[in-house]
Amino acid sequence: MEVGIDGIELWAGKLRLDLPGTFAPANGEDPEKYTKGLGLQASSLPDSYEDIVTMGANAAHRLLERKGVSLDEIGRIDVATESAFDRSKPVSTYVAGCLESAHEGSLTTANKGERKFACMAGTQALDDAVNWIRAGRNRGRAALVIATDTALYARDDPGEATQGAGAVAMLVAEDPGLVALGPEQGIGSVDETDFLKPNQQFPSVDGKRSMQVYLARMREALVDFARAGGTTHPDEFALVPFHTPFPAMVQKAAPLGYRHAIRDTEYEEQLADEIGRQPRPEGFESEEAYLSAVKEYTEALTDTDQYGRWYDRTVEPTLAISRQVGNWYTASVHVTRVAGLLEARDAGRELAGAGLLVASYGSGAQAEIHAETVQPGWTDELDGLRIREQLADRREISFEEYERIHDAHNHEESTDIAPLTEPDGEFVFDGWGRMGEREYAFIE
Ligand code: CAA
Repeated sequence: MEVGIDGIELWAGKLRLDLPGTFAPANGEDPEKYTKGLGLQASSLPDSYEDIVTMGANAAHRLLERKGVSLDEIGRIDVATESAFDRSKPVSTYVAGCLESAHEGSLTTANKGERKFACMAGTQALDDAVNWIRAGRNRGRAALVIATDTALYARDDPGEATQGAGAVAMLVAEDPGLVALGPEQGIGSVDETDFLKPNQQFPSVDGKRSMQVYLARMREALVDFARAGGTTHPDEFALVPFHTPFPAMVQKAAPLGYRHAIRDTEYEEQLADEIGRQPRPEGFESEEAYLSAVKEYTEALTDTDQYGRWYDRTVEPTLAISRQVGNWYTASVHVTRVAGLLEARDAGRELAGAGLLVASYGSGAQAEIHAETVQPGWTDELDGLRIREQLADRREISFEEYERIHDAHNHEESTDIAPLTEPDGEFVFDGWGRMGEREYAFIE
């Protein structure tokens, strides 16, 4: 039985902050830090009536409408987020309340939960949903997996450059229309203190260290994936979507992955005359000498035409949306999957039956690698997406508006600002209830 993603929807925060054009000059920075250094053009940010519930519910609402799925056909709702505002009541209950207010049917018998492991949790929730179906506990019903985050940093934190807000909703079902998940899974997981939010809204981040931890955990997950029987041969994968905190992070990770993937293959042989064979530990007297040789080989590999062709085909297309929206934390890797598939469709690539190697990551820290197979009819699912129109329709904000919006979403501030956009056929934050709960309404 094939199980995987039957349908997918994205919802971007409705405001657009231009990073090189607006944010860099206001901070006295060179715009090329953003375009070249980080690989980012813009952040998508939430208007004052948007939050993790509205974005998640809006993505799910659109998905259910488009797929013609009623609430009675959903047996499970898992929300992954690292921006939760309630330590007891899961975000999935708020989302379910929204959906029940606007759809026929009931979610009373849907099992609801919330997943936390930094940006890793979206993939963990997807995994849980797939396993629930494979275990035969779904009674023919589908699961709704939602990854939703407002990835905001404290003002003047270096992470402010990589902010973003948005949600991805995925319908997980038997005989899926988009991708089926393979059984092999690789994990790299170590207790790390690089990015955390101990009882605080905005993260404490050791940015440079977090990048090293990302690379180390990814390498372990790739080795573990091969140990689990998964193939990493470059010919097996049409696209390699990575968790993308900012595109330049993926540009650093991709050569390491490619180096691993071509080891002991014909591709390593083909490159041997140009850059030599990969260093092996047994050929060196110290670990330091070995690591230095690996670094040198990786730099040479990155400059080869062979690597460039692989990167342009499998990785670059996956970054097209992330460059325009920034980091969506739990949703980020699911954004890159969609971006890669959209670009491949537009380029006329036929991907039915092709493989995706999906590389997820969460600080704290854990990486996960699994493979997916693109399903026949995959373009039909993509044709229903309106993410590009939605990104183009975002309201451009000035630096002063950005400062006020950041304050409006800061739990420590009591700034109440008028919305900058007009809600249209969507769920909005509608104030506070008698027990301090957030309340929502659907605006026609
Ligand atoms: N022209 C070209 N390039 C420039 C430039 C210019 N004018 N100015 C700077 N750059 C380059 C820098 O050389 C640097 O590139 P390298 O890393 O290749 O050297 C890059 O632009 C960024 O510049 P800085 O290092 O000076 O930027 P920074 O000190 O402001 O910090 C950051 C960057 C550490 C990523 C910071 O934004 C941050 O802390 N982000 C949050 C943490 C994060 O995203 N970590 C990623 C891994 S963890 C993860 O993946 C989980 C998650 O989602 C958070």
